[in-house]
Amino acid sequence: MVTVTAMRIEPLTFPAPGGGALVSPPSRGGSAVRPGRPGGSGRPGQDGRPTPGRPGPSAPAGLSLLDSLAARTADLSHLADVLIDCVQGGASVGWVKAPTKEAATAWWSAFLADPEHRTWVGRDDSGRIVATASLALTSKDNGVHRAEVVKLLVHRQARGHRFAPGLMATIERFARTEGLSLLTLDTETGSLAESLYRRWGWTEVGAVPGFARVAGGALVSTTIFYKQLGAR
Ligand SMILES: CC(C)(COP(=O)(O)OP(=O)(O)OC[C@H]1O[C@@H](n2cnc3c(N)ncnc32)[C@H](O)[C@@H]1OP(=O)(O)O)[C@@H](O)C(=O)NCCC(=O)NCCS
Repeated sequence: MVTVTAMRIEPLTFPAPGGGALVSPPSRGGSAVRPGRPGGSGRPGQDGRPTPGRPGPSAPAGLSLLDSLAARTADLSHLADVLIDCVQGGASVGWVKAPTKEAATAWWSAFLADPEHRTWVGRDDSGRIVATASLALTSKDNGVHRAEVVKLLVHRQARGHRFAPGLMATIERFARTEGLSLLTLDTETGSLAESLYRRWGWTEVGAVPGFARVAGGALVSTTIFYKQLGAR
């Protein structure tokens, strides 16, 4: 049962006691971050090795290692539930058939550990993650100005509460703050998401036919979009 009286959207971090984030710390606070620079976000350099990152957020006072790990386990479990629910609902987001809970949890764990990924979540009134979206940055030297929006997912029980527009606005704000000027994404042609991106000011590039297989075996198109953020 999902109750949402006040939508809560936040970056997903798993603070460890004594400092150092366990996974995926979105840098906050405004300075442009580039891979390979000291004090950067920890994105890997061109050789694929992580660069020194700024320290992650410290654990709030009183948060023990066990609390941290319990929160991480709960968040991973809820993220897995959101992913499974969306695939079961027919979303074409990487899986033909919904993954098992174990596989979905392992997938999120690996995804969040990738230093090029930044993830935001929407929580219901109980603190449970019911929505998520991520940015995939790139360490390619010629592409540090761009990122791809991936895995915009809202649990079916949490739809209609404006999590999706809230997450997308948060991501755009983050991208501008980080000095990114270009966002890209792709989504199943003819889906609700495709019509939303158009409404939200994304520019359609075109469709790639036969891009992804869906349940039942058919191949469906994906539509590619971009949004130029420009200077503000
Ligand atoms: C697409 C998706 C992210 C929308 O999430 P959401 O939080 O429920 O979105 P909201 O309810 O806040 O609605 C956003 C807009 O969509 C409209 N909308 C929502 N459901 C709709 C529906 N079934 N039919 C028509 N419009 C709909 C809302 O009216 C709202 O319009 P507005 O901004 O003009 O007011 C969600 O349906 C989802 O997770 N789908 C499966 C995963 C997916 O396809 N992700 C995209 C991959 S790229």
